[in-house]
Amino acid sequence: MRHRRGQSPAMHTATGTAGPRPAPGSSSARAAGPGPHDDGDPVVTTDRLTKRYGSRTVVDALSLQVRRGEVFGFLGPNGAGKTTTLRMLLGLVRPTSGSATVLGRPAGASVAQVGALVEGPGLYPYLSGRDNLRVLARYAGVGADRVAAVLDTVALTDRAGDRFGTYSLGMKQRLGIAAALLKDPALVVLDEPTNGLDPAGITEVRTLLRRLVAEGRTVVLSSHLLGEVEQICDRVAVVASGRLLVESSVEELRGLGRLVVDARPLDTAVAVAGRLLGPDRVSVVDGALHLQAAPEETAAVNRALVTADVDVTGLRQEARTLEEVFLQLTDVDEAGPPEPAPRPRRLRRGTR
Ligand SMILES: Nc1ncnc2c1ncn2[C@@H]1O[C@H](COP(=O)(O)OP(=O)(O)OP(=O)(O)O)[C@@H](O)[C@H]1O
Ligand SMILES: [Mg+2]
Repeated sequence: MRHRRGQSPAMHTATGTAGPRPAPGSSSARAAGPGPHDDGDPVVTTDRLTKRYGSRTVVDALSLQVRRGEVFGFLGPNGAGKTTTLRMLLGLVRPTSGSATVLGRPAGASVAQVGALVEGPGLYPYLSGRDNLRVLARYAGVGADRVAAVLDTVALTDRAGDRFGTYSLGMKQRLGIAAALLKDPALVVLDEPTNGLDPAGITEVRTLLRRLVAEGRTVVLSSHLLGEVEQICDRVAVVASGRLLVESSVEELRGLGRLVVDARPLDTAVAVAGRLLGPDRVSVVDGALHLQAAPEETAAVNRALVTADVDVTGLRQEARTLEEVFLQLTDVDEAGPPEPAPRPRRLRRGTR
């Protein structure tokens, strides 16, 4: 199956609750908790953010927004450009063009308010979890009192005296997140925090990230496995070959279902549906029309077919798992990204 080329109708982000917003990085404001889905100033905005290495474009005109108080999943297959993008947000990699704003300032300028775990925190296996954090706290210039606080946040206080090298993968990941929290950051950026974790470990990370959000922080995480993070994220951006394919709430992504239509004559039906939805959202499987369409598009499809004198004898919405949606969205040709660039779908926001 080829990649969808984005002929889809533009659907726009709806507004939600707008409440009083705390100053970024303010602990007292965070204690009050702005709650998720605050539609105030975005915490992260990228505007046609692009990174090229030689002739290869690894992040391609990426424009997205992360809202205050949400867990935002940055998702895509291996090599999609996720880590490169996160590194640009952190000011570790310079964009070739475009820009990123983090907590109201150019990427890299808000480093004191951003805690990050990208490519491992470089912890010493022979030091205890607590001593590792003490070293990092000194390096980050934060008080030793933060060590106990973050150990508590990631539920590792009991094991803090054990050597890091003896920790399970889930504990190591949590200690890495603890390290990212030392600066009491308003924004937490985590590259693949669920990588290699079993379902229990993923649940632990989920609980932890929910706690961070409840404290008023915003979380951006990357993953190449949508199934693993769908329970964790409020909204996601799906990227492949550096390009944004979709930015939406998890619910709406799941709602991008398949509409199966039994219609005759089939060639007319294909043409009509193609005109309505864009040809890339239309295929024929076992003599039936398969349309990539949201449930609310069903009536319009039916009306267009009937108006064109097509007999419609069956019309049903088939639910897909989020993993299927993800695989379909990220199914890019081996040869590289399709041309022209797909237009990202921006879906209306749902609630969790
Ligand atoms: N410093 C670099 N020089 C050259 N190419 C690079 C560099 N860093 C990354 N790339 C290339 O950019 C592309 C995207 O890499 P990136 O690590 O951002 O992907 P990713 O989405 O994080 O993948 P994964 O899921 O495997 O972690 C890859 O093709 C990679 O080889
Ligand atoms: Mg990566």
